[in-house]
Amino acid sequence: MCKNADFKELSSTGVSRQDSPRLTRELHARIYGKLLYGFVLHIDYYAKFSPSPLSMKQFLDFGSTNACEKTSFAFLKQELPVRLSNSLKEINLLPDQLIMTQSVQLVHSWFIQSLMDILEFQDKSPNDPKVLAEFVDTLVTIRNRHNDVVPTLAQGIIEYRDAFGADPLTSQNIQYFLDRFYMNRISMRMLINQHTLIFDGSTKPGHPSSIGCIDSCCDVTNVISDAYECAKMLCEQYYLGSPELELREINAKNKSQPIEISYVPSHLYHMAFELFKNAMRATIETHETSSTLPPIKVMVALGGEDLSIKISDRGGGVPFRKIDRLFSYMYSTAPRPTIVKPIPQAGFGYGLPTSRLYARYFQGDLQLYPMEGYGTDAVIQLKALSTDSVEKLPVFNQTALRHYKFNQEADDWCVPSKEPLNLAAYKVAK
Ligand SMILES: Nc1ncnc2c1ncn2[C@@H]1O[C@H](COP(=O)(O)OP(=O)(O)OP(=O)(O)O)[C@@H](O)[C@H]1O
Ligand SMILES: [Mg+2]
Repeated sequence: MCKNADFKELSSTGVSRQDSPRLTRELHARIYGKLLYGFVLHIDYYAKFSPSPLSMKQFLDFGSTNACEKTSFAFLKQELPVRLSNSLKEINLLPDQLIMTQSVQLVHSWFIQSLMDILEFQDKSPNDPKVLAEFVDTLVTIRNRHNDVVPTLAQGIIEYRDAFGADPLTSQNIQYFLDRFYMNRISMRMLINQHTLIFDGSTKPGHPSSIGCIDSCCDVTNVISDAYECAKMLCEQYYLGSPELELREINAKNKSQPIEISYVPSHLYHMAFELFKNAMRATIETHETSSTLPPIKVMVALGGEDLSIKISDRGGGVPFRKIDRLFSYMYSTAPRPTIVKPIPQAGFGYGLPTSRLYARYFQGDLQLYPMEGYGTDAVIQLKALSTDSVEKLPVFNQTALRHYKFNQEADDWCVPSKEPLNLAAYKVAK
């Protein structure tokens, strides 16, 4: 095992040859030190563990009745290295040229640094209040360090795509990687947010039903209305107009009550906001020449198991054939935003795939049902019961490895030939 001081030493150098992306020459020069080799063993060690998913109920129980900082400390100092190491292992499976972009190397170094920061606490006692306070500070530092992971990685992928194009196999691997990597990121931020919000020592006057970033009585239509208002503001700035909202809710459990579930309001807001931006853009671009805009209709329904939200627009839809592409991190029909000319209404093409991750994180889903020529229904499905909302987490194992290495196998369904079949060859002589 590496000693804590060793990790500090390493923090300026980054990573290892064996377990990391191919690195800059400067880093390579320092890479063979045995300290670094020790660090690689840590990544290997923690990556062998499967992450331990928590349920919404566990998050809630933990934060309310038995909030014990020592238990949370003990759990996180094991669990965060496991989740970080699982992601570190997968970064290494990206295409070489993508790994070598500055952006990916930067993200990689943040992960290494954060892993080192947490490993500093492995031998420290939870009975020392100073240790617990330092741990909260470290988590805050880690969260801030990782703030720009998504745009930084997006930049690396744009550089890679511009330089090398995107063959179907590579695109498929990048999609697979990003879905897992971002899901893990959502989960780590969730763990960090819960610990820091509950144990940062300040007594917050916040909403009485809030436990960390979870609201045990999250008013779904309120969050949706907020997201609509914000998307509307952006839309009006850019297009000088916006479609109206028609919102209905059906609470099948208790007809006279507003719909409330235990959920993370910021996750729900993210999904609704992205879907509204898309619906507004499609509506306005399809009805450019008409004097009125058809409204966006939202239906929220709560049943015994599911909470469903349907956002329907009349923005002309998209061909069904393109559905998978819309969820690709490498696809957008919006002009690419630049630093000089940012586009508030649409940008990198991350709105749908990231929103689907938020929905899936607690075992829900997000799907699009387009009717080309008319409009699109976007449907978010969430678990209504906190016992069913369990974290969905990627694990780095042989199946994942096989996915990167062997997904070039032949299709097990016939691919229709582009040329018409020459039936003359089958003619039987009379
Ligand atoms: N409701 C919709 N109607 C028609 N097309 C849609 C709709 N929602 C999404 N799309 C299409 O799917 C593409 C991808 O959507 P997505 O939200 O992922 O990215 P974006 O809107 O282009 O950029 P970003 O959301 O990152 O700002 C869009 O560019 C658009 O062409
Ligand atoms: Mg979008």
